[in-house]
Amino acid sequence: MITLSVIKADIGGYVGHSSSHPAILEQAREGLEVARKDGLLADFRVLACGDDLQLIMTHEQGEDNERIHKLSWDIFEAGTELAKKLKLYGAGQDLLSDTFSGNVKGMGPGVAEMAFEERPSEPIIIFMADKTSAGAWNFPLYKMFADPFNTIGLVIAPVMHSGFAFEIHDVKEHKKITLNTPSEIYDLLVFLGAPSRYAVKSVYHRETNEIAAVSSTQRLSFIAGRYVGKDDPVCVVRAQNQFPAVGEVLEPFTLPFIVEGWMRGSHHGPLMPVAFNDANPSRFDGPPRVIAAGFQIANGQLVGPRDMFDDPGFDEARRHANDIAYYMRHHGPFEPHRLPLDEMEYTTMPQVMVKLADRFTDI
Ligand code: F6R
Ligand code: MG
Ligand code: MG
Repeated sequence: MITLSVIKADIGGYVGHSSSHPAILEQAREGLEVARKDGLLADFRVLACGDDLQLIMTHEQGEDNERIHKLSWDIFEAGTELAKKLKLYGAGQDLLSDTFSGNVKGMGPGVAEMAFEERPSEPIIIFMADKTSAGAWNFPLYKMFADPFNTIGLVIAPVMHSGFAFEIHDVKEHKKITLNTPSEIYDLLVFLGAPSRYAVKSVYHRETNEIAAVSSTQRLSFIAGRYVGKDDPVCVVRAQNQFPAVGEVLEPFTLPFIVEGWMRGSHHGPLMPVAFNDANPSRFDGPPRVIAAGFQIANGQLVGPRDMFDDPGFDEARRHANDIAYYMRHHGPFEPHRLPLDEMEYTTMPQVMVKLADRFTDI
């Protein structure tokens, strides 16, 4: 069994919230290299998506392992120190606790982990997004694993024909439910279509029960009970053979679907699929971005990454995303560009209501 852990945090932006400083990435690589030499990690890569630092690690410690989580926490804390020295913006913003207590879940960082037997060939795509929230994966995961108009393999590949099971988390009530496709897609879509409340945590191959995909579902705003930034989630998807082909896994992103996030975590906007070098959201702190890192895993080694959205095949999606971004920006402070009142990460409503309280009269 090999475990793939993707653990990420925003520990400081360069410049503002737009990107990550190279020195932070370099220091994280040095830290993980020590753990690799010590034998804790089989392999690792450090990437960034916007202002989020992404630690991609393979090991044999299983999911929710204290040593792996402590290693990540230490890297984030050391990175925060460096971010403070460089006076990067929002240094340590996702580290919500001063002390590590066994697991980074609930402490601010986002976590997506899966343990599996490596197949004879193991293609994996790691999606990383910035300026959006956990439910952003609902739409593409549904398309990949349940929509035959996206994934023809569901119809014509015998190994996929029995469908997939979706584990959905209610991120407010902290409850979960598993629903099967294709038999329960109408029930499934009642939840998936409400991504601010329900998020797909994982997807399983129904016939074999093998893990197919896993996402990070933490909602930072709920964890902290106050605004601390958007989740900027990650999602790991296994591809080929009994799972959707790489092209079927990437296909949902040809539509820049609308997600919540963008400026001040308080707007709807299109999710733009971009190459690694273009994941620096600057236009009105956006529009929200997603990158896709492709790997072949070989005996625990990460062969890659390939920058999967670095393909002219996604140029139209990017152009379309810009069109949508311009259109939505014209709405300024009006919904549906601005999020509904109780979804915004920033609000002045309480102060305004107090100030104007005695000017309200009955109609
Ligand atoms: C969105 C985001 C940014 C900030 C904005 C204001 O997720 O991180 O859009 O919300 O730049 O940031 P502050 O309040 O730190 O000045
Ligand atoms: Mg930030
Ligand atoms: Mg971010």
